[in-house]
Amino acid sequence: MCGIVGYAGRRDAQPILLDCLKRLEYRGYDSAGIAVIDENREIGLQLFKAKGEIAVLESQMPQMKGVLGIAHTRWATQGKPTTENAHPLSDCTAKLAVVHNGIISNFMDVREALVKAGHKFTSETDSEVFAHLVESELKGDLVKAVTKALEKVEGTFAFVVVSAGHDEIVAARRESPLVIGLGEGENFIASDVTALLKYTNRMIYIQDGEVARISKDSVSIFDQKGDKVEREPQKVTWSLEDAEKGGYPHFMLKEIFEQPDAIHDSLLGRIETVEPEPFFHGSSFSNVKIVACGTSYYAGLVGKYIIEELAKIPTTVQISSEYRYSPVSKENPLVVLITQSGETADTLGAAREARKRGNKTIGIANVVGSAITREVDHVVYTRAGPEIGVAATKTFVTQLVALYLLAMDLGMQNKSLTAQARRSMIGSLRNFPRDVQDVLNKAGEIESLAKKYAQARDMFFIGRSINFPIALEGALKTKEIAYIHGEGFPAGELKHGPLALVSKDSPVVAIAVKDHTYEKMLGNMSEVSARGSPLIAIGFEGDTELPKYVDDVISIREVPPVFTPVPVIVVLQLWAYYLAKARGCPIDKPRNIAKTVTVE
Ligand code: F6R
Repeated sequence: MCGIVGYAGRRDAQPILLDCLKRLEYRGYDSAGIAVIDENREIGLQLFKAKGEIAVLESQMPQMKGVLGIAHTRWATQGKPTTENAHPLSDCTAKLAVVHNGIISNFMDVREALVKAGHKFTSETDSEVFAHLVESELKGDLVKAVTKALEKVEGTFAFVVVSAGHDEIVAARRESPLVIGLGEGENFIASDVTALLKYTNRMIYIQDGEVARISKDSVSIFDQKGDKVEREPQKVTWSLEDAEKGGYPHFMLKEIFEQPDAIHDSLLGRIETVEPEPFFHGSSFSNVKIVACGTSYYAGLVGKYIIEELAKIPTTVQISSEYRYSPVSKENPLVVLITQSGETADTLGAAREARKRGNKTIGIANVVGSAITREVDHVVYTRAGPEIGVAATKTFVTQLVALYLLAMDLGMQNKSLTAQARRSMIGSLRNFPRDVQDVLNKAGEIESLAKKYAQARDMFFIGRSINFPIALEGALKTKEIAYIHGEGFPAGELKHGPLALVSKDSPVVAIAVKDHTYEKMLGNMSEVSARGSPLIAIGFEGDTELPKYVDDVISIREVPPVFTPVPVIVVLQLWAYYLAKARGCPIDKPRNIAKTVTVE
């Protein structure tokens, strides 16, 4: 989720690279760097990096000489956001520079082998191993060296490499985007078209498994067998603003659609091992306390069900701002702090309090190096990439992924989860990207339904068991994005009060997947429709009962009950988004709320 740019031409590379890099800054990065090669081979590789925004790099970097180079803005996933960990990364000879997007899942093994062979590392990143691999393979031809190095890495990536003495850029991708921009007497490469639109609109997209050679006069692309690929350039007609949003009208929608990739990245390298490293060696916990705010709190509520079912450990969930006033538990729980930004003041305060109480703490955060990561004993990063829309979407879903991983870890440690059960869980986790994509494919259908109900003033969301917190999250999204008064309830609670508010003007969204609560849900839905309230159900495909009870059904592919929150919340995110769109709300920046809440 970082930003890459490269330039090979006749003009000074440094100002062009910097200008292109700034076009990617809307993503909010934490460090940046640039490498320029001097074509006269007097100076060779010039490399400069800085922690912070691109402006910091710009104000500190020396003038560089050369017409070929690469640059990078980093969104840390492996290793803190420091100058050392910023890209480009170099090798032992200091002649190569590599920028990388993605995750090298086997980097520990590769690094160990390289260290044994005498390589010295200067960063904590997974990316640096690739610079050393290319260095060991480089016998003259840079494309060959990169191709050989690629054979040794696993994971997802976009690599862009330059080397002193080579008048070309070499790039390769697997699942992480790269696009070549064609100019006159100059060519470009970038992770996003946004970076290049000022210079060209003629683009060639590099495909998975391909390697490309880019010089000022030519572009060659090779497939996995090393055969040359012919590909016509495409003309991009996006405005710069469109391009920042990847062609989506809002960041929120873009981020909802990024969820299959975000889940994939969050799982990468974490479920492949038969006997994974435990989060805490030698510790066993008789109970767990989850502490968070807002959407992260709802992730925590889902986490309670996941941990209790998979690890059989009693779990309580508390709002961060209330935690410090709660009595100290004698049972010394594992305290899990969930915060996508890692900067939420209430959650940071709770983390400090938990430590003061002598509890072991885990943070689940999306921003590497954020404040929470310094306040906890162990961090599980969600790898959702930068989230620009104020409403949390992909960070919520990846928080759920982190909670499944935590529950698996705790369940393996206390032996309540057998190896076979873990394998079957992993199968379901691997299916998440596909399950979510299935929901995304129904966006048009969800939009039509949302339009039908968009003028409602109140909307109720009901669910049972693990989908009760999903009803709460659906209501929160509807409130904050669509400005509709939304409330979530455990379906069984309606008759204890809220039914008084249910009328033909207040649609009810019911999560009615086929789990152990299904029959009861049908009963609760009947209570609602008897009061004349329009009813929309989210259920499994092929459920022939549901349509008899409700006005409209949105179907999701059947998954085991404990995994239903992920596809269901994606339905509700799209639901809230399309309600807001139909009502003309400012979706990415809802009134009165901020992305990061640093006051208590
Ligand atoms: C709602 C939303 C907020 C945050 C809350 C906590 O869409 O984004 O409710 O979840 O402010 O923020 P983090 O997770 O950064 O601690």
